[in-house]
Amino acid sequence: MDIGVFIPINNNGWIISAASPQYMPSFDLNRRVVEKAEAYGFEFALSMIKLHGFGGKTEFWDHGLESFTLMSALAAVTKRIRLYASTAVLTLPPAMVARMAATIDDVSGGRFGVNIVSGWHKVEYTQMGLWPGDQHFGKRYDYSTEYVRVMQDLWSEGHSDFKGEFFQMDACKLSPRPKKGIPLVAAGQSDRGMEFAATYCDFNFALGEGVNEPTKAASVPARMLEHAKKAGRDVGSYMLYMVIADETDAKALAKWDAYNAGADKEALAHLLGHAAADTAPSETSMAAAISRSPSPINFNMGTIVGSYATCAKLLDEAATMPGVKGLMLTFDDFIKGMDDFGTRIQPLMACRSHVKMAA
Ligand SMILES: Cc1cc2nc3c(=O)[nH]c(=O)nc-3n(C[C@H](O)[C@H](O)[C@H](O)COP(=O)(O)O)c2cc1C
Repeated sequence: MDIGVFIPINNNGWIISAASPQYMPSFDLNRRVVEKAEAYGFEFALSMIKLHGFGGKTEFWDHGLESFTLMSALAAVTKRIRLYASTAVLTLPPAMVARMAATIDDVSGGRFGVNIVSGWHKVEYTQMGLWPGDQHFGKRYDYSTEYVRVMQDLWSEGHSDFKGEFFQMDACKLSPRPKKGIPLVAAGQSDRGMEFAATYCDFNFALGEGVNEPTKAASVPARMLEHAKKAGRDVGSYMLYMVIADETDAKALAKWDAYNAGADKEALAHLLGHAAADTAPSETSMAAAISRSPSPINFNMGTIVGSYATCAKLLDEAATMPGVKGLMLTFDDFIKGMDDFGTRIQPLMACRSHVKMAA
């Protein structure tokens, strides 16, 4: 079972609350998180790309670094961990991203992959004059499909003459090419998104669900398994959880209650408004998932709250869901959270016993 960290590239991580740790993103913070991840045997780190925040008194996600440039710098200061950057496909041409990825592949010695973000938060793109119109909601995976086909041509052949609805290449060149190709990942929650991931990606991220109900989202990796079977490829799910840990269950739950009490309602209203703006949401899409919850202070991601032993037990349970190949973690406080995970939680996890033995 792989373990990864969703690094805090935007301010305040993933809790939309005035009562949770408040911090700005920086290279130094993310370097410390990824160095800890490497030291504790994590297999990978992912940075998202978020180009517009939600405002409110916490200025939630109004402050963010850029994903590829950050991962390139992190590649230069790490040795073993796999690193994934995210491309928002409406903002960067695929031939440029193919070249950026080939560059980071070289910097990292073959440890780099790309997360394909098809886009659901319209204001990120309208602010730059890059929104093609609301029909994009319905076509986002057709667009992403052409996008990855251009990149894959360039990585495998060094040239592309791809002609599609959205992209036309004209003897486009790439050299040097990545040594072993570049793994692609995605986070499709809708069936169309999963179909895309099953066809083109190595694995698909999915949101865990509920508080201390680690298998509540079991139908999501199960759906992904069906899509992978149809595509005839081995594409598993990496589930996203937030870990809020302390010495006792009561202490950890008190933190979670305080974060909820301090919810930044204005920032949440912005998030819910934009989730509702998706004109092509399916029952299973991200927009639908966010809209279902009355107070999604952490995007409804699966939340694991408790003592170190409780967290270890619940994460082990999450790892038993069919189709799950990895867990990706966020924390309320990333520095303390990484240390607590590495020294107190992971050593108790059966699905990470190989790391314990190596340590
Ligand atoms: C782990 C994870 C990482 C994601 N990274 C980003 C990101 O970097 N930028 C972004 O705009 N959306 C991001 N998303 C949203 C997804 O790209 C996708 O739009 C969302 O999960 C909805 O899936 P759907 O398009 O199938 O409805 C992420 C979602 C998850 C679960």
